Amino acid sequence: MEGMENSVMVAGEFVESESWEEIKEKSQPYIKLMSYYKCAMMEIETKFNVLNEEFSLQHDRNPISSVKCRLKSPGSIVNKIKKNGLPYNLEVVEEHIRDVAGVRVCCAFIEDVYMLADALLNQDDVVLIEKKDYIANPKPNGYRSLHLIVEIPIFLANEKRKMKVEIQLRTIAMDFWASLEHQLRYKKDFEFTQSMADELLSCAELSAALDRKMDALRDQVLNF
Ligand code: GTP
Ligand code: MG
Repeated sequence: MEGMENSVMVAGEFVESESWEEIKEKSQPYIKLMSYYKCAMMEIETKFNVLNEEFSLQHDRNPISSVKCRLKSPGSIVNKIKKNGLPYNLEVVEEHIRDVAGVRVCCAFIEDVYMLADALLNQDDVVLIEKKDYIANPKPNGYRSLHLIVEIPIFLANEKRKMKVEIQLRTIAMDFWASLEHQLRYKKDFEFTQSMADELLSCAELSAALDRKMDALRDQVLNF
């Protein structure tokens, strides 16, 4: 590209520069912000691991089957900002993109999902910003999960910073459905037909029935 010899893509935007030192310096605020998000994600991950540990000591079973963390890529952050018609700067990222840091918790049973969400939200350093219960109210396509946006402080050498984290809690069955649906939906140059959407919805209903059966079995075992 003509005239672009001295510019590189840094965090989704072109940075014009004379030297690598300058490019490195210009990208620092973005790198720093992402590392804050990573720290907040680690805090949340640890909180869930602690809850799992405590519960397994008390009840001899693990309510959590996996905790996965992901940081949104620079490209996805920029795309989301563009989609929302906002200007790109780090203040806008912090204010409007609430899923830069994402933690997904897969649980054994539906009741575990709510138990873990309540236990997390009861902690006095966790502030709930938004809760979306797609288990009680599934999306029209059948998607189910409990979504929380929380704010949590991270303690740095000289400051305390509040960071937002998106948490998705779901059962193994909900995760199975969502993972496969995601793979199908993002297949390039392919549009879902109505009958395929109907099939997917019926798969979601089957997985919801499976969860209900497992929860009923669990009740029988616990009440024994
Ligand atoms: P977005 O983050 O732009 O989706 O905004 P939103 O505020 O509408 O978020 P919502 O809580 O509905 O969904 C956030 C995240 O949940 C998405 O980024 C996905 O990871 C997941 N999700 C939501 N709907 C679906 C769905 O239909 N299928 C799958 N597989 N995942 C979904
Ligand atoms: Mg998202």
